[in-house]
Formats: sequence, C-alpha cells, structure tokens
Amino acid sequence: MKKLLSVLMACAMIAVLVACGNGNATKQAESAAPVAEQTAATKLRVGISMPTKSLERWNRDGEYLKKEFEAKGYQVDLTYSDNKITQQVNDIEGLLANNVNLLVIAAIDGDSLTQVLKDAKDRNIPVISYDRLIMNTDAISYYVSFDNYTVGKLQGEFVEQALDLKNTDKKYNIEFTAGDPADNNAGFFFNGAFDVLKPYIEKGTLVVPSGQTEFEKVATAQWSTPTAMNRMQNLLASYYAGGTQLDVALCSNDSTALGVTQAIESDYAGSNSVIITGQDGDEANLKNIIDGKQTMTVYKAVANEAIATLDLGEALLKGEKPDGSLINNSKWSFDCAYDTSSYNNGTGIIPSYLLVPTVVTKDNIQKELVDTGYYKMENGYPKAN
Ligand code: GAL
Repeated sequence: MKKLLSVLMACAMIAVLVACGNGNATKQAESAAPVAEQTAATKLRVGISMPTKSLERWNRDGEYLKKEFEAKGYQVDLTYSDNKITQQVNDIEGLLANNVNLLVIAAIDGDSLTQVLKDAKDRNIPVISYDRLIMNTDAISYYVSFDNYTVGKLQGEFVEQALDLKNTDKKYNIEFTAGDPADNNAGFFFNGAFDVLKPYIEKGTLVVPSGQTEFEKVATAQWSTPTAMNRMQNLLASYYAGGTQLDVALCSNDSTALGVTQAIESDYAGSNSVIITGQDGDEANLKNIIDGKQTMTVYKAVANEAIATLDLGEALLKGEKPDGSLINNSKWSFDCAYDTSSYNNGTGIIPSYLLVPTVVTKDNIQKELVDTGYYKMENGYPKAN
C-alpha cells in the first residue's frame, strides 16, 4: 500500500509534463487523454478539516494549507464544521468516503474524534493533528502546532514587564479570560501565563478581585466573543462598580480579547487604559492595537504552520517515519522544535513539530507583520495577505 502510494505520488508530481511510465511528453500528448485528466486521476487527495470560519485564524489556515498542497499537485478537500462537533465527525467521514490519502485536522473538541479516526486508521490513512491536539486516539501520527505553553508565557511576561512587577510593591488588579475547555491548547495557554503571574498573586502585587483564578472558572466555551464579553460585563458589575481599577485583562486569544475589550468600552467606569493581551493577530484586534484599545497579541505565522504540515504530510505519504531531521532537511526559513515529551494525548506521547510565536504590539506591527509580508496596510490598518 505504502509503495503504491509512493508510486502514485511520484506519478502525480511529474504527470503535468510526462505521463507515468512513459518518458515522452510529446508522444503522450498526441495519443492519450488530455493531460489535465490524467493528472486528476493520479493526484493524491488531502482532506483538511478546519473547525469554523467564525474564528478568523482558521480561514487563513485553510487557505494557506490548500494553497501549499495544491501547489505540490495534490487534490485538496477543505471542510469547515461551523464549530459543531457532530458536523466535524460527518465532514471527516465525508473526506474518508472521498478516499483521501492524508487527513489534516484541527479539532473542535479534542475528545470527540476517536471513532471516526479509528476508521482512518483501519484504512491506513495518516492523520496530522493540526494546531490542536486530538485526544484519546492512536490514529494520530504527528502533531504540528506552535509552542502553546510559550504563547501563554509570553502573555504573562508581557504583563510582568509592562507593570515592572519584579521591582514594584504597588498593587494591580487583574482578571483572566481563558479559552475553550474542549480545546487541549487552552490549558497550555492559561498555564503558561498563570505560571509567570502566580508568584505575584501570592505576593499580593497582583490581586484578582473576582477571585477567579482556576482554568474552569475563567474558560470560554468555543472561544466565543459574546461569551467573553458577557462574563467581563458581569465581573465589572460585580467587582468594579464601586470605582475599583482594573489594570490587566489577561486574555488567551484575540476572539476572547475582542469581547473583553467591548465589555470594558461599554461597562467599565475607570479612565485608565487596561492592559489587554491576545493571540493570533486577527484583523479586528490589530486594529484595536493600533487604536490603543488592546495592548498586545501573540502572533503565530500560520503560513509557516502550513509549510511544516505540507512537508510532514509528504513524508508520511511516502511511507516515511519523520523525526527531528525533517526540520533541517526541509530547510525551513522559520524556527521549529521537534518535541517528543510535551504532548500526551491519552494514548502516549505524540511527536510534535512546534513553531515559535512572536509578541506583537503597536510598536512592531509594521516590522513583524507587514514587512514580513503576512499583512498589508490598508487605510492605516493591517489586512491579512
Ligand atoms: C486555538 C488556537 C488559537 C486560537 C483559538 C481559537 O486552538 O491555537 O490560535 O485561535 O484556538 O480559535
């Protein structure tokens, strides 16, 4: 089977110019079916299952992944599941029915794909867990993501530096907003930030007026902007109405930061500018950063995540068992670590390729996002390219 895949793939790659097993392109063009048809017949299929279009980044992920795989001659089936767990299971079943040769999946709920991925395993189809770790299945070959703990750590360190917490005895008030408990990443982000800030909470330099410091209490189902907004409005009404100052809103990502920012704009009585963290570089949040409403975001270059996924996917389709050497062999222009200890999905450690996130503020948007070509400036605000 693997051998057959390799042969098919090799043929697909060269089919545009030369027919498989027949080295003479001109002769082929005269006597056989049109080249386009032959190419379609021999192309390997890649099934890409993304969670939702309603969270901005996945639109970019889907586009980049599709572009990368198609550029290498693969046929791509790309699905979005509207953040609905059963729909994602159906979508993946559909991809399997379409005879995809490789699956790339960003799960809505990491725990809900065990059965459908058993079908993938039974058919020997390699599965790459994309960005979010899929739990409790041994059908996963590899995990490609960013260093999720570091994302949170960068947010925590940003607050530490902005308030000079190492050197101050002043007291600052902070509230936490974390992500979706169904997303394995969310705990990593929260812990990364909390581990940096916890000593200051213990020391009393940071105070959490709501007392909500546990992940379960501050989590936001589906990373929903309105849910994050409602919760922050409640916190403001309950703990800040009497003139208490809110100094920091530590938000795990941009969709939640957007809701928290809206709540602060509409319901916060104070006049200080609240430090608000985020993650992703969503356009609405970059606009808020430029307008001074959000303070930072942690940017993850999903264009590079797509490149890493492509190279890993190709190796898997060739029947290889890639390891850390894939990074050097692929000659990526970005940093990536091969990790074989951090991500256990309940069936064992899943070998992971982890890219490196970057802190973006008003001061370096141009350098990090525009000069690098990921975004272009339009009417003074960044738009994703
Ligand atoms: C996470 C992802 C983040 C963020 C969030 C909501 O899994 O790593 O970048 O976008 O989902 O979509």
